[in-house]
This record gives sequence, C-alpha cells and structure tokens, in this order.
Amino acid sequence: MESANQLVSVGTFQVLKLPLGFIRVLEWLFAIFAFATCGGYSGQLRVSVDCQLDKASSNLSIGIDFAYPFRLHQVSFEAPLCDGRRRESLFLIGDYSSSAEFFVTIAVFAFLYSLMATVVYIFFQNKYRENNRGPLIDFIVTVVFAFMWLVSSSAWAQALSDVKVATDPDEVQELISACKVMTNKCGSVQGPRWSGLNTSVVFGFLNFVLWAGNIWFVFKETGWHKGGPARYAGAPPEKQAATFSQQQPYNQGSFDQSGGYSGQGDREQASEYSPVGEPTSYSNQM
Ligand SMILES: *[C@@H]1O[C@H](CO)[C@@H](O)[C@H](O)[C@H]1NC(C)=O
Repeated sequence: MESANQLVSVGTFQVLKLPLGFIRVLEWLFAIFAFATCGGYSGQLRVSVDCQLDKASSNLSIGIDFAYPFRLHQVSFEAPLCDGRRRESLFLIGDYSSSAEFFVTIAVFAFLYSLMATVVYIFFQNKYRENNRGPLIDFIVTVVFAFMWLVSSSAWAQALSDVKVATDPDEVQELISACKVMTNKCGSVQGPRWSGLNTSVVFGFLNFVLWAGNIWFVFKETGWHKGGPARYAGAPPEKQAATFSQQQPYNQGSFDQSGGYSGQGDREQASEYSPVGEPTSYSNQM
C-alpha cells in the first residue's frame, strides 16, 4: 500500500506520458473539436431574384439562415413572385438532424468517457487494476466507441455532402417559382462557408483512428495477450499481483504498483515504452 501511495504521488502525471494516457487526452480534445465545430455551426446562403418586368418587386439579396441540427425542411424564406409585390413562402428540402445529432452525441459521450478515464488513470490507478475489472471495461468501451466514431463520422460525412447540395444557391433557386419564368433572372449571391463542418468530419475520423489505436494499448492493460488472467486462475489475489509483476516486467510501467516509476529509474522505463522496446515484447509471446 505504501508503494501504491508513492506511485500516486510520484507518478501521478507520469501516466499521461504513457500511450494510453496520452491518447486519452488527445481523445477528449479532439472530441471537443468534433462536437463544437458541428454543434456550433450556423451558415447562410444568399440568392437574388431580379424581376425583369416588375423591377420594384425584385429582391437581390434574399438571405437564408440555417444551423445545426440541419432540419432544413423547417428553414423558411420568402421570395418575390414578380407579380405585383406578392411573395411566396418557401422551405429548404431535407432533414439531416439524425446524422448530425448522432455524431454530436457520440462526440459528447466520447469526450465524457475519455475525460473520466484520464482522471481514473491518474487518481485511481489501484482501483483500475483491481481484479482486472478496469482494463476489461475500458477495453470493451474503447472498442464500442471506436466503432461508433466510424459509424457516426461516416453517416455525418454523407449527411454533410447532402446538406451542401440542399443549400447550394443554385439548387435553392430551383425552388423559387419566379425563377422558373424565363423573363426573370435569378442568381446565387453567396454560398455557405463549409470549413467548420469539413473540420468536424476530419475530427470525426481522426477520433476513430485515435480510439481504434487505443484499443491495442487498453488490450495490453488487460494482460490477455500474455496468456492473461486464465494463467492465474485459482491463485489468491496478492499472489496473482506478485506473479503478474514478476513475470511481466514490461507491464510495470503501466498502472501497476510495482515501482516502474518510483524506484527503478528511467532506463528500464525507457526500454519498456520506447518504440524499439515494444516489438521485443510482442515477439516474446509468439
Ligand atoms: C429581401 O429579402 C430579405 C429576406 O431575406 C428581406 O429581409 C428584405 O426585406 C427583402 N427586400 C425587399 C426589397 O423585399
């Protein structure tokens, strides 16, 4: 227990230097970018309707605003009918809220989980290690989130390309009755900016890569790849822990209490986690 406390005081923020901890931090940062750029979006397009025979009723700058969650069929605007100041009320086409909301929901939950996981790694390492339950849950949740990031980012990427079509000023003109009359001139004044939403898709797929990559590092924490818990079946808990740390010295540096940080210096730690050191540990198990 003493060594455990030592680890907490010495190695508290060292955990963030491990791949698992470091990637968790990136995960919640990238999740913030993903849901902020998507959920905070609002855009505007502008079209012009120039009534040749009835100049007075022309409107050369009809602004149409839309925003997350992209229920475009609820976005209304007014366009002149080029017929004695009468106007028509129109709506954009399409509802992309399910994909957009799915994406933002996954991003928010991924943010909460990776933030919570970071806190657990730093302050509750012993609880995390207990009965191997922490790594096990962590592994399952990480796999699920990796999959969810892939699905939601793909769905959102598809929805975004549809939103781009539905809010293209050239497409919107086709909805306006006056533009179907040859004597009137319609034009696109300005299209929406897409940089924010493009960024959200990029961060969605980056998050997928991060979570998928982290599956391996969480998997290592479970110990399964070395024969795992099955090897210790029947042994009392203390003995398990002891055997575990003796037989797998390269596991110490993770969240174990056996002094990867506290006692044994940087040399051992470096060899455990340097890119050069890792492949040897894989070859051992083969
Ligand atoms: C043109 O349309 C905008 C709405 O986009 C409206 O605010 C403005 O008053 C209209 N202008 C004229 C001249 O009707």
